[in-house]
Amino acid sequence: MSLKIDSLLIHGGIDGDETTGAVNVPVYQTSTYKQDGLGKDRGWEYSRTGNPTRAALEKLIADLEQGEYGLAFASGLAAINTILSLFKRGDKLLVSDNIYGGTFRILDNVFKNFDITYEIVDTSDEAAIEAAIDDSVKAVYIETPANPLLTVTDIEAVSKIAHRHDKLVIVDNTFLTPYLQRPLTLGADIVIHSGTKYLGGHSDTISGLVAVKRKDIADRLYYLQNAIGGVLAPWDSFLMIRGIKTLGVRMDRHVANAEKIARWLVGSGYVSKVYYPGLKTDPGYEVQKKQADGAGAMISFVLDPKYDYKKFYESLKLITLAESLGGVESLVCHPATMTHAAIPREIRQEVGIVDELIRFSVGIEDADDLISDLEQAIKASKKA
Ligand SMILES: Cc1ncc(COP(=O)(O)O)c(C=O)c1O
Repeated sequence: MSLKIDSLLIHGGIDGDETTGAVNVPVYQTSTYKQDGLGKDRGWEYSRTGNPTRAALEKLIADLEQGEYGLAFASGLAAINTILSLFKRGDKLLVSDNIYGGTFRILDNVFKNFDITYEIVDTSDEAAIEAAIDDSVKAVYIETPANPLLTVTDIEAVSKIAHRHDKLVIVDNTFLTPYLQRPLTLGADIVIHSGTKYLGGHSDTISGLVAVKRKDIADRLYYLQNAIGGVLAPWDSFLMIRGIKTLGVRMDRHVANAEKIARWLVGSGYVSKVYYPGLKTDPGYEVQKKQADGAGAMISFVLDPKYDYKKFYESLKLITLAESLGGVESLVCHPATMTHAAIPREIRQEVGIVDELIRFSVGIEDADDLISDLEQAIKASKKA
């Protein structure tokens, strides 16, 4: 029976436990498995290589992304590390011009040392991608909407260009999740998630998830997952499966709150800029609407110079200043010194990650309470 996403969130992957009838997949807290004789295992050998709780989550993310294969890692960056390990000395990746700072850091300070290089391009500009592709380029790596400026890239258009040149397309789908956007159905080859965010949803687990359609890519990734070893633990796999069950209801509320708050910010007179692809005035609005079922719940904004952004963070009462995003609780962060500090200041300034930029992960609290908190903190931060 083919299920819609709301049912898949609850019954996708491996639904419960065949042996006992338990409605939840058990936590197989084991590192190894009894073998009945030499070469006679029961399908499981060692938990870095495979674990039934992790396997249930891996099948679940494959189902949700409409892929064929899924992989679960100890963090989003462990997933990215494994994906980047597909490449060899001399290979180059084209990457979106505003991506998560940690992704930039691993490219710039780890893989570059092995001569796997990157070039930053505005992936929302198809001509720029076409112009940047040469023989050394092996993949285009995009985030859409990108972190933290919410720039939208047309996944289908980029995939067509990349595939015409026989290059892979890797999409970080952390901000929207498969509930709102399914990159594999738009032509992407590999989808990666920081599961730490909306998929887990409760700011209690660090994880990374990957989904792919092609068997040759999946085989290589499974090999690398086992060879590198950054796998997700059984208990954390269980927490992820549990979090994912409520993804749909959480995302509906996240998005409704974000739309209301983005509109309020625009009309408030307190801000000089609002980045949110759900606003009709946003340059990414049309592409966003075409390729996703919602604009997500990340908003970035710049306060009017009358207000002191440092004081604003300190004046919030309900909304918490913290790294991360995608949990039920609202969080704000300062990209320039927190999530994107790994990106050199000149590049940050060039792409628009200015010191005054505030990133807001809109939670599922009452939207009016969130607006009240923003308003009182902005008023309290008025310069003398
Ligand atoms: C878009 C995006 N991708 C990847 C990551 C890395 O994930 P993790 O922190 O789970 O390693 C993050 C973390 O903030 C992120 O925001």
